[in-house]
Amino acid sequence: MRGSSHQRTNASSRFLRNPSSPLSFVLYISLLCLFSVIFFFNSTTQILENQPKYPFHPQHSSSLKGSDDSLWSTPFSHSLRPCVKPTSQYTAPQNSGRYLTVRSNGGLNQMRTGMCDMVAVARIMNATLVIPQLDRKSYWKDSSTFSDIFDELHFIRTLQGDVRIVKELPKELESVPRARKHFMTWSGISYYKNMSGLWKEYQVIHVAKTDSRLSNNDLPLDIQRLRCRALYQALRFSPPIENLGKLVERLRSHGGRYIALHLRYEKDVLSFSGCTHGLSDAEAEELRIMRENTNHWKEKKINSTEQRLGGLCPLSPKEVGLFLHALGYPSSTLIYIAGGDVYGGSSRLHELESRFPNLVSKDTVATAKELEAFSDHDSQKAALDFIVSVESDVFIPSFSGNMARAVEGHRRFLGHHKTITPDRKGLFELFDKMERGELEEGSLLSSLIKQMHENRHGGPRKRGGAPPGVKGRNRFRFEESFYENPYPECICSSKKNGQMATSKVHI
Ligand SMILES: *[C@@H]1O[C@H](CO)[C@@H](O)[C@H](O)[C@H]1NC(C)=O
Ligand SMILES: *[C@@H]1O[C@H](CO)[C@@H](O)[C@H](O)[C@H]1NC(C)=O
Ligand SMILES: *[C@@H]1O[C@H](CO)[C@@H](O)[C@H](O)[C@H]1NC(C)=O
Repeated sequence: MRGSSHQRTNASSRFLRNPSSPLSFVLYISLLCLFSVIFFFNSTTQILENQPKYPFHPQHSSSLKGSDDSLWSTPFSHSLRPCVKPTSQYTAPQNSGRYLTVRSNGGLNQMRTGMCDMVAVARIMNATLVIPQLDRKSYWKDSSTFSDIFDELHFIRTLQGDVRIVKELPKELESVPRARKHFMTWSGISYYKNMSGLWKEYQVIHVAKTDSRLSNNDLPLDIQRLRCRALYQALRFSPPIENLGKLVERLRSHGGRYIALHLRYEKDVLSFSGCTHGLSDAEAEELRIMRENTNHWKEKKINSTEQRLGGLCPLSPKEVGLFLHALGYPSSTLIYIAGGDVYGGSSRLHELESRFPNLVSKDTVATAKELEAFSDHDSQKAALDFIVSVESDVFIPSFSGNMARAVEGHRRFLGHHKTITPDRKGLFELFDKMERGELEEGSLLSSLIKQMHENRHGGPRKRGGAPPGVKGRNRFRFEESFYENPYPECICSSKKNGQMATSKVHI
C-alpha cells in the first residue's frame, strides 16, 4: 500500500500534502469541480461561437426521458470538437486581378458543396471568385439566384481572410475572352497549379461545372479546413429561408424530439435506379418509359431483382415503417418527412403512416401562406428540408445521395448527432425472407436489425478510402466524400488545444 502511494508523484498527489485530512480532501474536490466547470464553460463558448447560426440546436433530452434514451442519444464523441482554424503559415489573399467565374450544376446540395470546392480552387489558383451562378435547368426548375438562396454578404465577409469574392466581374473584364474549362473531376493541387498556366493568356477563367471537381483526400490541411469554413460557416441560407427554418421550433413544441426521414421513394429515383419491387406492372412500365426517355440516364435495361440484391434501391415507406419499428421507435414518434412526392401517393405513404401516424412535412408544419413565396423554387424548398434535417434528433436517409451525404457530414461536424444509415442490402434480405414466409415480424427480426445497425449511428470515425481492389482514377469515385465526413481535418480531439476550433479568423 505504502509503496504504491509513494510512486504516485503526479501533480495531484503533490498537491494533496495530507491525503488523509478530510478538509483538504473537500478542498481538493471543490477545486477540481471549479476547474472542470471553467474548462467546460470555456470550451462550450468556443464551440458555440463557431457554429453557423441556425444548424446548432442543443440536444433536447428533457422530454421523454427513460428507457428509450438510446434511441435518441448522440453516439459517443465527447472529446471531439470542430476545428477549422487555419495553420500558422496561412496568408491573407491578395488581389491578383485574376477572376474565376463559375456556373454551379446539380441540385441544392451538389451546388453547395461544389461552390465550396470552388472557393478552395480560387485560393489554390490565387484568383478572385465571382459569386457563382446557379443551375436553373438541368435537374431542378428554379430561377433563384445565389442571393435568393444564400446570404451573399455573409459569404463574402466570412471568407474575407481566405479568398477575395466579388458580386460581379468588373465591367472592364466583361468582354475580354475567357478560358472556358471543364475542370477534371476529383483533381488535386498539382492539377490546379498546372491550370494556373492559363493566367499567362487569360485574366478570366470560366468554370462550367462545379460537381466533384476537387479530390476528397491528399489536399493540404489548410485547403480542407477552408472547405469546412466555406460550407459550415460562410454558406448560410438567406434570411427568408432561415426564418422559415424556424419550423423546427414549431416541430419541437409539438412533440419534443423528432426523426427527420429523407424518404426518397420518388418517381425519378425509382425510374433511374430501375427498382420496381412491390409495384404494379403498370407502375413498372411507367418507370421504364420514363427512363427510356431521359437522355442523360445512360443505363436503360435494369434488372430490378439484381438492384435490390445489391442494396441499390430506396427503402419503401412500408419498409421504413418495419425498420423503425424493429429499431424500437414507438408509434407515437414524430417523423418529419423530407424529400419530394412519394411515388404511388398517399396510399403508399399510408403503409408507413399506419405504424407511425405522427408524420409531418414542410407542407403540414408551415402554413400555405408561408410556403407561397417558395412555390416554384425547388432549391429553396430543399433548403427548408435541409435545415430541419440537420437539426433533427435523428436523421435517417432511405437512400443515398447528395442531400443525405451533406446532412450526415454537417451533423458529424456539429457533434456527431445521430444519423442512422440503413444497411439496405441487409434489410432487403430480411424483408424478402419475410415475404417468403421464412421470417416473421417480432423479437428475432428486431434483434437482427438492431445488430445490423450497431455501427451505423453516425459515430466518429475517419473518412474511408476506396474499397480494396478499385484502381486508378476510379478510386476517387468510391472514396467517402469529404463533405460526408470531414474527420479528421475539421474534427479534432479537444486535447490538442492549439487545433481547437476558434471562431472567425482573419475577419
Ligand atoms: C499564389 O501566390 C502565392 C504568393 O503570392 C505564390 O507563392 C503561389 O505560387 C501562387 N500560386 C499560384 C498557383 O500561382
Ligand atoms: C498541364 O496543362 C497542360 C495544358 O495547359 C497540359 O498539356 C499538361 O498535360 C498538363 N500537365 C499535367 C501534369 O496535368
Ligand atoms: C434478374 O436477375 C435475377 C437474379 O439474378 C434473375 O433470376 C432473373 O432471371 C433476372 N431477370 C431477367 C428478366 O433477366
